[in-house]
Amino acid sequence: MAKAETPVEMLTQEDAASELARLAEEIAGHDRRYHGEDAPTVSDAEYDALKLRNAQIEARFPELIREDSPSRRVGSAPSTAFAQVQHSVPMLSLDNVFSDEDVSDFVTSVRRFLSLAPDAGLVFTAEPKIDGLSMSLRYERRKLVTAATRGDGTTGENVTANIRTIGEIPQQLPPDAPDIVEVRGEVYMRRDDFLDLQKRMAESGQTFANPRNSAAGSLRQKNPEVTKSRPLKFFAYAWGEASEPLGSTQYDVVQRFRDWGFPVNDRMVRCASLEEMLAQYRAIEADRAELPYDIDGVVYKVDSLALQERLGFRSRSPRWATAHKFPAEKATTVLTAIDIQVGRTGALTPVARLEPVTVGGVVVVNATLHNEDYIKGIGTTRPEGHDIRVGDTVIIQRAGDVIPQILDILPEKRPAGSMPYVFPTECPACGSHAVREEGEAVRRCTGGLICPAQAVERVRHFVSRNAFDIEGLGEKQIEFFFNNDKPALRISTPADIFTLRRRQDELPATLEGSLEKLEKIEGFGAVSVKKLFDAIDARREVSLSRFLFALGIRHIGETNAKRLARHFHSFDTLRKAAEAANIPEGKGDSGNAEWQEIVGVNGIGGIVAEALVDFFAEQHNREAVDALLKEVTPTDEEAIAAVSSPVAGKTVVFTGSLEKMSRDEAKAMAERLGAKVAGSVSKKTDLVVAGPGAGSKLKQATELGIEVISEDQWFERVGREA
Ligand code: IVH
Repeated sequence: MAKAETPVEMLTQEDAASELARLAEEIAGHDRRYHGEDAPTVSDAEYDALKLRNAQIEARFPELIREDSPSRRVGSAPSTAFAQVQHSVPMLSLDNVFSDEDVSDFVTSVRRFLSLAPDAGLVFTAEPKIDGLSMSLRYERRKLVTAATRGDGTTGENVTANIRTIGEIPQQLPPDAPDIVEVRGEVYMRRDDFLDLQKRMAESGQTFANPRNSAAGSLRQKNPEVTKSRPLKFFAYAWGEASEPLGSTQYDVVQRFRDWGFPVNDRMVRCASLEEMLAQYRAIEADRAELPYDIDGVVYKVDSLALQERLGFRSRSPRWATAHKFPAEKATTVLTAIDIQVGRTGALTPVARLEPVTVGGVVVVNATLHNEDYIKGIGTTRPEGHDIRVGDTVIIQRAGDVIPQILDILPEKRPAGSMPYVFPTECPACGSHAVREEGEAVRRCTGGLICPAQAVERVRHFVSRNAFDIEGLGEKQIEFFFNNDKPALRISTPADIFTLRRRQDELPATLEGSLEKLEKIEGFGAVSVKKLFDAIDARREVSLSRFLFALGIRHIGETNAKRLARHFHSFDTLRKAAEAANIPEGKGDSGNAEWQEIVGVNGIGGIVAEALVDFFAEQHNREAVDALLKEVTPTDEEAIAAVSSPVAGKTVVFTGSLEKMSRDEAKAMAERLGAKVAGSVSKKTDLVVAGPGAGSKLKQATELGIEVISEDQWFERVGREA
């Protein structure tokens, strides 16, 4: 039986992203077992279903298509024709930004993270973002030994034999190169070479859609002779492991690569200000069509490697770099209808249904309309009076990283007699009042658990893979159980899932009783019923983070659930904190110690904290959780993997003004070293790092006899230079 799945059209962007990540991993695993190990673990039909779901989600969220997406694997050569290579330093991706303002925010966040003085200089490099595929070339004793694709970032494919056929990649480095160095960059195909190749290949009927696919397909040939006949090229722009430092700036290292014989991009420049970065972006954009290869943006990197080191990484991307993508492609089409979707959190989201149109190579049939105001034109960049109506001819845009959107309408094409769109004030799913809170753009259904759109969704979300992961409770089954009119077959809340077996067992042996027997119902049968019950019972213990995520609290997705779970360890502690934080004086700055503790969890800000506190403030939520806790035990989250450092496992509070690092940097460093960072001092605090101006927290620490050290002593203790 299929696992529970949210219908694609109901996925939020966040859900979609996490599901695509999971699908990429899962499908890659199946590919590996099927092709590489000859030991498939799923049927072809199940495999196809996974690929189909991946394709459907990508069709709805083209901006979320991953670099390692199963749909992006080109050519017929299975990825597993190649052995795997473990990257000694992970190959990460880049964050994307789309506007000048985003770039300015990026620069500000870097400056803030490093606590740079306003007049302190900060240099970035700017260079084209090549649309190819990334490659890691490992040299040992100056000889090329391994070439690996990025793969999932941790494990790539060994394509050494094929890479050796690319003439412009050196096989041997000069004597000044270190013993071990991994040079990274992009394998790509020039546009003219691509067109020639298309002509050559047209006869065989096998062609590629664009230079990027062509480069990837050419590299993944089993026979290196085929690769050799393909015009592949390379640009070096990054590196992985190196046995000695390669230089002190990004720019210098790339120049060294050039000296070693690597092709490097001659459009890379250093920029000393935001203005210079943006000017470079515009210059590259203006020349985009003339460049012989495809690019899709400009990459900015902090030039100083010492600063790169301090900035470090987020989970998937470095803090010291970002990609400024070129604007999206546009097209016009006709808006045929506006539908309202009710999300799991009750948000009413208008979706535009469009006459199909191709934008940037992808067929678009839906676009987001964001919210009520967006349709009216309030707060948008559209000229006044350009509200959006059914029947309008609209300009749509598909940007790299956003859902297709409607930018504007063509008023001259508006059909006569069209009417302004009236946003519903009732939930289309349950008829409950849909309200808009002050200052909120979103209108929400107030139906909560009585709203089928939300309740079914909540149950679906609850059993979904990253939550309780209950096999056998798929979409169809949930629809069947949900609000079933027979009490022994009804699931309306998460707790009901866990009482189902008991209610079934207690049915009387009468005719009436047997009508409610699950195994008598078509589509179930004794075997699948037993399997389902066993699957449910297997989840009577789940990790705290899954439990929290499953509750479907606003803003608490997987990542935030993990953050909270790692900090609080047990559900009880978390709940007590959330309940105690709900004091009438309001949360905010003046909140009590519990509130401060919650907002102090790394990555959890006021908005998430408020959602958490509000959740536990609701009577019906507390009841639902209590009912659930009678059936299920959230297991205490393991402490962060034991890192051996002098502060591992310690609870640290930073207070006063820090002079050598920002709060964020301090927090990130402490957490990297295995410490827990708290926002307020309590008996549980092990260490207080106090800068000048420390006040009440310092006083409290002294009273409680907690060790207090200075910022310098902190650096000494963790063995790092300030
Ligand atoms: S730097 C740690 N520079 O973009 C980050 N990447 O979206 C190292 N890419 O996987 C990447 N041109 O395949 C960098 N000039 C450039 C690039 C570039 C293209 C690709 C690369 C990477 C992807 C991230």
